[in-house]
Amino acid sequence: MHPLTPQSPPSTGVNRRLFLTLCGTLAASAAVAGPALAAAPPSSRIAGLISRMTLEEKAGQLSCFTDVVRWSLTFINPTVNPAVKEQQMADVRAGRVGVLMNGFGIEGGRRLQKAAVEESRLGIPLVFAGDIMHGYKTAFPIGLGEAASFDTALAERTARAGASEATAEGVHWNFAPMVDVGRDQRWGRVAEGAGEDVLLNARMAAARVRGIQDGDLRRDDTMAATAKHFAGYGAVSGGMDYNTVDISEATLRDIHLPPFKAAFDAGAPTTMAAFTVLNGVPSTANPWLLQQVLRKEMQFKGPVISDYAADAELIVHGFAADERDAVRIAFLAGVDISMQSGLYNKHLPALVRDGVIPMAAVDAAVGRVLALKESLGLFDNPYRSLDPEAPAKRIGTAEKRALAREAGARSIVLLKNDGDLLPLRQGTRIALIGPCARGTDNLVGPWAFFAQADSIDLESGLRAALDGAAALTVTPGCGYEQPLAGGIEAALAAAAGADVVVLAVGESQDMSGEAASRADIGLPAAQLALVEAISRSGKPVVAVLRHGRALALPPALQASPAILATWFLGSEAGHAIADVLLGKVNPSAHLPVSFPLVSGQQPFHYSHLGTGRPDDPAGQNHRFKARYREASNAALYPFGHGLSYTRFALSGLQLSSARLAWDGRLSVRATLRNVGARRGAQVVQLYVRDELASMARPVRELKDFLRVELDPGESREVAFTLQRSQLGFTGLKGRTLTEAGAFTLWIGDSSLGGLTAGFTLLPG
Ligand code: BGC
Repeated sequence: MHPLTPQSPPSTGVNRRLFLTLCGTLAASAAVAGPALAAAPPSSRIAGLISRMTLEEKAGQLSCFTDVVRWSLTFINPTVNPAVKEQQMADVRAGRVGVLMNGFGIEGGRRLQKAAVEESRLGIPLVFAGDIMHGYKTAFPIGLGEAASFDTALAERTARAGASEATAEGVHWNFAPMVDVGRDQRWGRVAEGAGEDVLLNARMAAARVRGIQDGDLRRDDTMAATAKHFAGYGAVSGGMDYNTVDISEATLRDIHLPPFKAAFDAGAPTTMAAFTVLNGVPSTANPWLLQQVLRKEMQFKGPVISDYAADAELIVHGFAADERDAVRIAFLAGVDISMQSGLYNKHLPALVRDGVIPMAAVDAAVGRVLALKESLGLFDNPYRSLDPEAPAKRIGTAEKRALAREAGARSIVLLKNDGDLLPLRQGTRIALIGPCARGTDNLVGPWAFFAQADSIDLESGLRAALDGAAALTVTPGCGYEQPLAGGIEAALAAAAGADVVVLAVGESQDMSGEAASRADIGLPAAQLALVEAISRSGKPVVAVLRHGRALALPPALQASPAILATWFLGSEAGHAIADVLLGKVNPSAHLPVSFPLVSGQQPFHYSHLGTGRPDDPAGQNHRFKARYREASNAALYPFGHGLSYTRFALSGLQLSSARLAWDGRLSVRATLRNVGARRGAQVVQLYVRDELASMARPVRELKDFLRVELDPGESREVAFTLQRSQLGFTGLKGRTLTEAGAFTLWIGDSSLGGLTAGFTLLPG
């Protein structure tokens, strides 16, 4: 018997069925959610509490609101239920609130918690939630940028650092990581996840969960993670945020669910339902998704929270007749906690009294919420993460800033470096030009509302790195989306007096992230004009791009001899970019999203299914081929691409056998050598294609990767192992299939080219 399963019901007058249901919930959540929950003591306390709760108190535990008592971030979202501070305190005392979100601070947190624990009838502690997506006061690179590092240990460390800071100001539950696969760069939220690939998303998801929770939820500096948004949100039609998702079940299972599974396996105890419709049914109202897939198949035992007022939005969808109907549908579908609409408080009790919603279902949902609170140690120590001395010790420390700088530099992708223009040498006269050159307003990225104002912009980073201030001029040239009077003339004059132009262009913070979808992922017209003018200046140009997605680069920018993709890098952005520009750090990141030739190729990803008429981008005859008239369907820079200041050579591909037995393992080896002049890291990638299958299969799929660091002249064997479990896919009717037959594999430094060999999976 599991240590969490008590032998007999406690003597608190608890109904036996309820007790057993809850024991099951707790034991199972311990088993599924990993070591953190397993460490929690057995709880007759929860069953006892539920037996004493009124229906109104139960609905309260299932309600989450924006924390308006502390600093309020209601500007993030439309305010559906704006409670004034006094009203919120009263609601807490009355047991009408179980979860508060996006409020920070010790004093207010203690006041709120005191109201819950000492002034409410049952003394149930609040759990404080927050969106700590890429750091808190110290901002780290956006999720997409950090994914470019292909470095899961780094993702774990930044998630850990974000948790350490956020818990210092009273957050227990993180609405992160965002694990949605983003294959359409028009979708602004591609910035939050790990890009277009399933495996990279899954590994980053697990790493982030490990970092947030650190294997022990009860500690003062760890938070519970949320894998969001369940499920398929990344596949919104046309890349437009909140839009319909209409995908096959195979696509859902093979592309969108694996990162959730990885996050759950790593111990994420909660999930959030997506705003979107999945194949005709809103996720918030989808019992097949939330019960059959999530609970039954994935064995997920923790609470499911709605996204912001998504239950109320069922009415706008035309899916629920009115508020009461919306609560009935969302709750019965499997949404335990209602975020922000207040509708569960309003309608759940009557729905139970009228026999529409069974009390046992409400008790099970409340049990899951209380189990989360218990796993966080909140019953024993409700003032955890509210230590007045913690902020000074943990927020913005030199260590965290150093990590932000390291993570920033590790996330920068060197897309192009003709003639080894980079790194720049000291003494080079630099004209830093462009809207991203100066200013901290648009530096840290779309989810860093909380970041401290002392972020480092590119100008400050470069000034600190250059030996003489005289070597640098700074000229904006234009705004992000607006021309500046005389801007281009001033930029050209600055270029004329310099040896090299560093052209800092790209997106402002509000051009990516939630509700920031773009119909065109190129540069705005004002920046295009600047780029074109500078490209005619005759000076060598290093383009430094800032962005929350892959961009479609205009020809004038493509022609720059050197191009760096720098995303939104966080608090130390300027230092990190200067480190790479001047060669203090050798770039080692690789693209987690393909850069297309033109916007109209979206959705674009390397791992698309084969067609009967594949294009041959290098060939002569393009008629009647799968391509656009204006551009081949290749990437400008493919997924996985990234250069270094040194060069690597991969050779000697060897398979342990040309045949993989059904239950066997195939070892794939090659030698990586640093053939350049400086130490550097390479990301070696293993791709596979199933050559003949009963469903169309991707032209390539990433199956493994390794980050290897080598000194000049050093070589190392890289080794991967392949087995049948990595070769399966979803067939018709949702069945998982693995089919014997021929496969091709590649190992290389991007999703194009590489060393290749074939092997056969033998039948079982
Ligand atoms: C977002 C979620 C977020 C929530 C709370 C929503 O608009 O979709 O990802 O957790 O707001 O801030």
